[in-house]
Amino acid sequence: MGRLSDKVAIITGAASGMGAVTAQLFAREGAKVIATDIQDDKLKEVVNDINKQYGEVSIAIRHDVTDEKSWEDTVKQGAEHFGKINVLINNAGIGASDADFEDYPLDDWNKVLSVDATGNLLGIKHVVPEMKKAGGGSIVNISSLAALLALPGAGIAYSAAKGATRTLTKVAANNLARFNIRVNSIHPGYILTDLVRKHVPEEVRKQLADAHIPLGKFGDPEDIAYISVFLASDESKFMTGSEVVADGGQAIR
Ligand SMILES: NC(=O)c1ccc[n+]([C@@H]2O[C@H](COP(=O)([O-])OP(=O)(O)OC[C@H]3O[C@@H](n4cnc5c(N)ncnc54)[C@H](O)[C@@H]3O)[C@@H](O)[C@H]2O)c1
Repeated sequence: MGRLSDKVAIITGAASGMGAVTAQLFAREGAKVIATDIQDDKLKEVVNDINKQYGEVSIAIRHDVTDEKSWEDTVKQGAEHFGKINVLINNAGIGASDADFEDYPLDDWNKVLSVDATGNLLGIKHVVPEMKKAGGGSIVNISSLAALLALPGAGIAYSAAKGATRTLTKVAANNLARFNIRVNSIHPGYILTDLVRKHVPEEVRKQLADAHIPLGKFGDPEDIAYISVFLASDESKFMTGSEVVADGGQAIR
């Protein structure tokens, strides 16, 4: 029996990085996985790979988290296919401009807030009716260390959106507890994925790790995926509104 054997999970942003690794790990732990992303081809590769290893346990749905209709369609299709939905991993996210305040481009602010904050609100809004039908559920919002401190290189809009996600988590946890729906956030420090490779050059990564991270390195996607497994599973049944930091010790420096 896997740690997630009675779970049906939507994982957004599952075509790459932490989302793809989380989808793999969830399937290994016995979950059914509704993997979603705007990158269809990469997403299909992830799902094919999972199904080759574990049987037909996952489906790929093209889904833009900023689009409310796309959420309606995704939840409907996922619930019809697997019969229920009791986990949501709000993982999709984008990086932001590194401009400082006086030059900050408003279109970047609006775009980043729509994916990294509004997308999570829409996810909670549309998955809650299914979780109520299922008798409860677990929602995990992938926030960031940037929600807790001024993280070097994170970007202004990104930090604000991740901060909004942190507080959204608390309000949702409070309002949804009576339906046995738990809501927690994860706050990764620097994790080596495409998002970080694109925004933080290798020499800067080394300097950042040496200067700021007591464990002296960036994390791996698995480091976060394992936390999502725990928060999605009944092992964490008394946790809601919590924020789990995984940052190599960066926040204590
Ligand atoms: N990598 C890090 O260091 C780090 C640290 C803290 C938090 N995070 C957060 O973790 C999450 C995953 O990041 P990652 O590093 O794996 O990045 P990634 O770029 O590898 O993956 C993000 C995925 O989100 C998808 N996506 C983007 N916009 C979307 C949209 N509108 N609708 C649906 N999908 C969309 C992308 O296509 C991509 O597959 C993000 O929320 C990110 O902000 C990352």
